[in-house]
Amino acid sequence: MDTTIIKDKFRLLFGDKFYMYTSPGRINLIGEHTDYNGGYVFPGAIDKGIYAAIYPNATQQVRAFSLDYNEQSVFETTEKDLPSQPWARYIFGVVREIKKRGFEISGFDTVFAGDVPLGAGMSSSAALESTFAYALNDIFSLNMDKLTLAYIGQATEHNYCGVKCGIMDQFASVFGKKNSLVRLNCATMEYEYFPFNPQGYKLVLTDTCVKHELASSAYNRRRESCERVCEVIKSRHQEVKFLSDATMSMLQEVKNHVSDEDYLRALYVIGEKQRVLDVCKALENNDYETVGKCMYATHKGMSKEYEVSCSELDFLNDVAKDCGVSGSRVMGGGFGGCTINLVKEELYDNFIATARNKFSEKFGKEPKVYDVVISDGSRKLE
Ligand code: GLA
Repeated sequence: MDTTIIKDKFRLLFGDKFYMYTSPGRINLIGEHTDYNGGYVFPGAIDKGIYAAIYPNATQQVRAFSLDYNEQSVFETTEKDLPSQPWARYIFGVVREIKKRGFEISGFDTVFAGDVPLGAGMSSSAALESTFAYALNDIFSLNMDKLTLAYIGQATEHNYCGVKCGIMDQFASVFGKKNSLVRLNCATMEYEYFPFNPQGYKLVLTDTCVKHELASSAYNRRRESCERVCEVIKSRHQEVKFLSDATMSMLQEVKNHVSDEDYLRALYVIGEKQRVLDVCKALENNDYETVGKCMYATHKGMSKEYEVSCSELDFLNDVAKDCGVSGSRVMGGGFGGCTINLVKEELYDNFIATARNKFSEKFGKEPKVYDVVISDGSRKLE
């Protein structure tokens, strides 16, 4: 992204001295709704992110200007000053979470903008949180480690934005590495980078541009279902700490002790654990067709068991299948946003053209298309 407009606005509003920081959005190859269940995720940072000019102002005030909303928010950093603009709450939350960890930081001025599509399931909010967590840590020499920065972003979502999210998005944004996906075990926080360069294939996102208003509350309810099932299994199997630790046979044992809906949610989560492991094995053998099959299986689970898909996403998934695309599934939290597709290079043009035509015939607008470029995580720009 060209950051000239950010710098120009900062100079205009606050002066000539500033530092530039950025953090990316993310994709996730497989392992969806597993992070808050202690399972595996397999994300990578992308070449789209949030970019911020920032400089301390030696007051207790934060003066933040969002170029995308063309709006300024000014707030003090005490708890009662929660700003009214939703976008400003992410910055406020990061500041509060840093302070809660015992650090004193003064106010600052900032201008920021981004090129992560909003509501597309690519975690523009994690990019925003990570940008400020990383920048404030650096500017005020707080010496927090990268994992703490990711936790600060997650706590911001929990405490100031109403989403009880897992750690995947913030982790991927902070820890991203060019040309690599990172497999994270969310129970132990152990992680491993996997070089990702699928010869002969492309990863492409097709964006329904659907954003459901109730996505956050539906997300939180999925999490509660998982917690309920986990409690029931735990009471019989003490070795189970998270739902992802449970086996299919443990789930069958408790089937009559949980609601049908909760049972379906758990069925998806436990199935998804195996799919991530299958994908890792297939990647080691450069077997992208198996990776793709697992992606389709995940889509089915997310649509029929976890019920976080929608007709637009299911439609794009069907189009992908009809076009011979190797793998396709809804990506991220769901309830709108994108499908992620693993497609052979020679089928790419036909798939994109067909998706555009068929989708607009049915829904009256074209899906947006983004090629995925796996990039670095949070950083200072020179
Ligand atoms: C959202 C959340 C993540 C994760 C995904 C689903 O992106 O922020 O923590 O749960 O949904 O995998």
